[in-house]
Amino acid sequence: MLMPHLDEAKKRTKNKVLVRKFEIDDKFKKIGVGKTYYVKTYGCQMNVHDTENIKAILEEMGFKENDDMEKSDLILLNTCAIRENAHNKVFGMIGRLKHLKEDRPGIITGVCGCMAQEEVVVDEILNKFKFLDFVFGTHNIDELPAILYEAISKNKTFIDVKSIEGDIVEDMPVKRDSKYKAFVNIMYGCDKFCTYCIVPYTRGKQRSRRIEDIIKEVESLKKDGYKEVTLLGQNVNAYGKDLNLDYDMSDLLELVAKTGIERVRFVTSHPWDFTDKMIDVIGKYPNIMPYIHLPLQSGSDRILKLMGRRYTKESYLELFDKIKKAVPNASITTDIIVGFPGENDDDFLETLDVVNKCKYDSAFTFIFSPREGTPAAKMKDDTPLSVKEERLHRLNEVVNKYALEANQKYLDKEVPVLLENVSEKDDSMLAGYTDTMKLVNVKASKEYLGKIVNVKITDVKTWSMDGEIA
Ligand code: 5AD
Ligand code: SF4
Repeated sequence: MLMPHLDEAKKRTKNKVLVRKFEIDDKFKKIGVGKTYYVKTYGCQMNVHDTENIKAILEEMGFKENDDMEKSDLILLNTCAIRENAHNKVFGMIGRLKHLKEDRPGIITGVCGCMAQEEVVVDEILNKFKFLDFVFGTHNIDELPAILYEAISKNKTFIDVKSIEGDIVEDMPVKRDSKYKAFVNIMYGCDKFCTYCIVPYTRGKQRSRRIEDIIKEVESLKKDGYKEVTLLGQNVNAYGKDLNLDYDMSDLLELVAKTGIERVRFVTSHPWDFTDKMIDVIGKYPNIMPYIHLPLQSGSDRILKLMGRRYTKESYLELFDKIKKAVPNASITTDIIVGFPGENDDDFLETLDVVNKCKYDSAFTFIFSPREGTPAAKMKDDTPLSVKEERLHRLNEVVNKYALEANQKYLDKEVPVLLENVSEKDDSMLAGYTDTMKLVNVKASKEYLGKIVNVKITDVKTWSMDGEIA
């Protein structure tokens, strides 16, 4: 039984990060034979990719995937802690699992991911949801076989959550969702400690993967026919800083581009670490996609300071212009929080001002959600929720206007699209993304699946476009 501890999670050790290979003991390989599993994923791409590892590990244990949660023998929730509503969704689902377990007591149920790293969540599970069989965190996914082995032999919830970061585990098995595009972790954790954000506590200290391991993975994906890789990290621009070597994200990006894989993407960038050298590399290699997610969070210097973001409105706008100059066709998207503690109307107008200047291709917008243990959760916050909701509404109207305007520029143009799946609504349509990350629905036969084709855009909406093969 290893419980999460908030105080431990806040610490940053100088311990050297070990790199080791994934191993699974033979005694765990039969646990799942004849049984099925279902994993439900909440949250960001990092979690989506963790689920791809979890699924493959379960399959090494003999389990088979089942799309129907209600009929599965093992049900696992891979959770997100970023905002209160993510929490609520998960607790709602845990309630459903309770009923399932009452109907079929033989099923195994578990919770993992970012919420599992939270002390308050695990306390609540132990108090209210004792029927759950196991809980493990973000640092020990590779230990899932041993955790399940323990959980099955016990009649109370088995908790195994490390609050100190784990090793970097190479060669983890992976069952990828797509045959054409792949996530590649380049780093784990985050040391930025923005005052509103729980990630540095749930994902631990920053640990970069070795450059040679990343390149090896990209090369093998290319050999397997993958067209696109997305380099993943909470703060990819800080890649390598913890390794104390003389290369950084721009060197990594360049090496990945040189593998010749057709499309390279990366998320998420922090404006603070975005160097000129990186912008040069993005502009120089045609296979680095002209799409950048550049979280703004707020346009007010006062609020940015309270958020611990380490840039100002002016320096953000300078960076934005620099990127637009070097990569003229780049699409740029952002994240914005409204209603941070103490945000007043003037602060909010500063945010709107940045949106009006940047005219983002799209933006994810949120109302501030206090997260237990973060500094912002303790800040005085006397703005009524109705005011925050009104700000969000106003912001969304402006954001949507620019999103549509950005899409309208594509009308009648030809753009490259990686066609990656059959539309759910109409099986004569394929869907895919442009180099600039615009979703396009295309009338095309299935033989185009997995191909990057030129598409002529025939209609545009705020969130997607329609087109035909050019
Ligand atoms: N409240 C609201 N939004 C948040 N985000 C992160 N933490 C919080 C929080 N406590 C948003 C940020 C981040 C995105 C992934 O989620 O905008 O960029
Ligand atoms: Fe959610 Fe953040 Fe964890 Fe991703 S890293 S799952 S966004 S809390």
